[in-house]
Amino acid sequence: MGFFKSLSGRFLLLTILFVMLAEILIFVPSVARFRMTELQERLELAQLASLSVLATPDDMVAPELADELLDNAGVINIVLRRNEVRELIISKPMPAPVDETFDLRDASPMQLITDALRCLFAPDDRVIRIIGQPIKGAGLEIETVLYERPVKEAMRDYGLNILWLSALISIITAALLFFSVRGLLVRPITKVVDNMMSYRDDPADARRIIEPSSQIRELHEAEQALQDLQVALSQSLRQKARLAALGGAVARVSHDLRNILTTSQLLADRLEVSSDPVVARTAPKLLGALQRAVTLCESTLTFGKAEEPAPTFQKVVLRDIADEVLENDALRKTGDLVDFDRKVSPAITLVTDRDHLFRILTNLVRNARQAIEASKVAGTVTIRAEQIGEEIHIRVEDSGPGLPPRARDHLFRAFEGGARQGGTGLGLAISWELAHALGGTLELEATSQDGTCFLLVLPRKR
Ligand SMILES: Nc1ncnc2c1ncn2[C@@H]1O[C@H](COP(=O)(O)OP(=O)(O)OP(=O)(O)O)[C@@H](O)[C@H]1O
Ligand SMILES: [Mg+2]
Repeated sequence: MGFFKSLSGRFLLLTILFVMLAEILIFVPSVARFRMTELQERLELAQLASLSVLATPDDMVAPELADELLDNAGVINIVLRRNEVRELIISKPMPAPVDETFDLRDASPMQLITDALRCLFAPDDRVIRIIGQPIKGAGLEIETVLYERPVKEAMRDYGLNILWLSALISIITAALLFFSVRGLLVRPITKVVDNMMSYRDDPADARRIIEPSSQIRELHEAEQALQDLQVALSQSLRQKARLAALGGAVARVSHDLRNILTTSQLLADRLEVSSDPVVARTAPKLLGALQRAVTLCESTLTFGKAEEPAPTFQKVVLRDIADEVLENDALRKTGDLVDFDRKVSPAITLVTDRDHLFRILTNLVRNARQAIEASKVAGTVTIRAEQIGEEIHIRVEDSGPGLPPRARDHLFRAFEGGARQGGTGLGLAISWELAHALGGTLELEATSQDGTCFLLVLPRKR
């Protein structure tokens, strides 16, 4: 059965079916036509027989001769109308009443087909009458009665011949098609599929990239596209491997650097209690700088781990999370420059990862607060949310100084966008990745000296 699921198997089956169908479409009309010719022939024979009677002086022949003429023509009686009055009849006693009469003069093709089919399925011993036009204008009408059986047998033989022939033709056609489809389609496709599988097993092996070789245009194009894809993929895999190696090196350096720095921190701690006033004064700055360096190393290490745990989706009430974020961030405030505000309806719920959403909002709120604090002008950070269709639009707005150009140019790019003293430039990059992992987007909606607005769009359902 598996064979008929293959492309060539399907083709074989369909070809046999279609050829058979075509043959049947030819078979029926040609059998009808055969019957028509056969009956016409009988009429002509009957007419010939009647002509020999006409040759006698008074249109009369001895009964034995009449019988012989009728037997020769294979009919039971003949009626030939020469003109309105002259009518010639030769006949034998009728063996049985006539079962059906067929007039060949004005039969439509459809009629002939039905008659032929009915004849094939009728009982064998019917007696039929046929009426036709005499040939060569030898009279007005000729009519003859005969047994249907010989006609029917001839039709059967003819039909069987056609059937055998069609079977043979369909087998030959199907076989030819089968082999050409195998050669033209199946084999090249198998080749491409084999190549895909071998490439999948080891994409790093450049020898496994396909060489387009098909002579058929469509397949050649497919091979070409596959080749392009494989070349690009192999390249990016190589690049990825290189970047991973680089990342590994950076992680190792960061790790060792952090250890060195913590040791230096311990040593620097002692400087604070130095009796030298200059040393004691610069010590806090040195400690601050060291702390920032340690933080940078630690963030690099965290980012290097890269694989965030996959989100676990659950239904959350947005307002609860917003409140928690703001309360947490308020604890880190220095001074009283920043006010927090939250405009979120308690009715807004969404199915998302609570922890991811918390981290995104924390990053955005912290950035906004830090910007305001750095500007030394009082301001507000607002979380605002609305539901639009199946999406939740969450805005984190502030009245701060706006994004510095460096941050704007490298927005959402790890390590590159940081323009803040002590920042690593990772917060926005991580938030962007988290938002995408949740099926959402994060973008900078507006920024100017009057403030900044980040827009986080999340799907309401998973
Ligand atoms: N609301 C904001 N207003 C003004 N500047 C902003 C705002 N948000 C971000 N920025 C700028 O964009 C830069 C990048 O932000 P990001 O959160 O990615 O890094 P970071 O805050 O410097 O460091 P990290 O968050 O990793 O500690 C920031 O350094 C800051 O200059
Ligand atoms: Mg930040």
